[in-house]
Amino acid sequence: MTEIDKLKKEIFSLNSLCVLTGAGVSQESGIPTFRGKDGLWRNYDATQLATPYAFQNNPKLVWEWYNWRREIILKAKPNPAHYGIKKLEEIISDFLLVTQNVDDLHREAGSNKILEIHGNIFRTRCTKCNKKEFEKKIFKNEELPPRCKNCNGLLRPDVVWFGEPIDEKIFASVLEFALKCEAILVVGTSAVVYPAASIPYYVKEKGGKVFEINLEPTQISEISDISIFGKAGEIFEKLFIL
Ligand code: OAD
Repeated sequence: MTEIDKLKKEIFSLNSLCVLTGAGVSQESGIPTFRGKDGLWRNYDATQLATPYAFQNNPKLVWEWYNWRREIILKAKPNPAHYGIKKLEEIISDFLLVTQNVDDLHREAGSNKILEIHGNIFRTRCTKCNKKEFEKKIFKNEELPPRCKNCNGLLRPDVVWFGEPIDEKIFASVLEFALKCEAILVVGTSAVVYPAASIPYYVKEKGGKVFEINLEPTQISEISDISIFGKAGEIFEKLFIL
């Protein structure tokens, strides 16, 4: 029996499943990952772009970077990994997708039971009145940095930056599910950013199973019951013959 067959068998016997995704899920949609050969953090200094300090220091520069990422993401379409994960939501009654991705592609593929723990790149938040707005668009260069229509405060991308905590309520819901689910499937994440990376350990500790799909081994492989190495989209195609 191949590892893919084993995973398929496991999936069809589950009543509850948590799926944790990272940038690798969107790689086949043409969105660069953060780490690795062509990773975003190889070519850009994270401390200059994805921190509260960077934004305070140069909001226009930070917005130019996010606007550029919006442009790439707007051209992208969900791939078989996104659709396969949506299919898991349909098959398994008690289901939760936890994504570190901010690109909205899971929703575009139809996922509903989803928590975006690092926010969403298309949502803005006013630094003054806290008003949030969601719009799938690119700002014109002269609009940067954008201002709140309500109070003229500076808008920021509603994403989690380095040094910022994840929304407490969201993470509490993630933990509640992780501590009761039968298994977790970890897809396309290097699992080095915490607290997201801790989620599979909570599942394991409570006796749940850990499955992993990634191009290469990660630290999650050590606690994985089944690890499948390869491109997530191609693996999901084989899993479900989409
Ligand atoms: P990373 O770039 O750290 O890791 C991407 C992972 O996906 C790696 O382990 C790759 O091996 C794997 N991968 C790449 N292409 C793949 C493919 N086609 N199929 C399967 N796996 C593939 O991205 P994340 O783990 O998502 O946070 O990074 C976590 C967080 O770090 C991000 O949410 C972001 C970043 O800093 C914030 O901005 C707060």
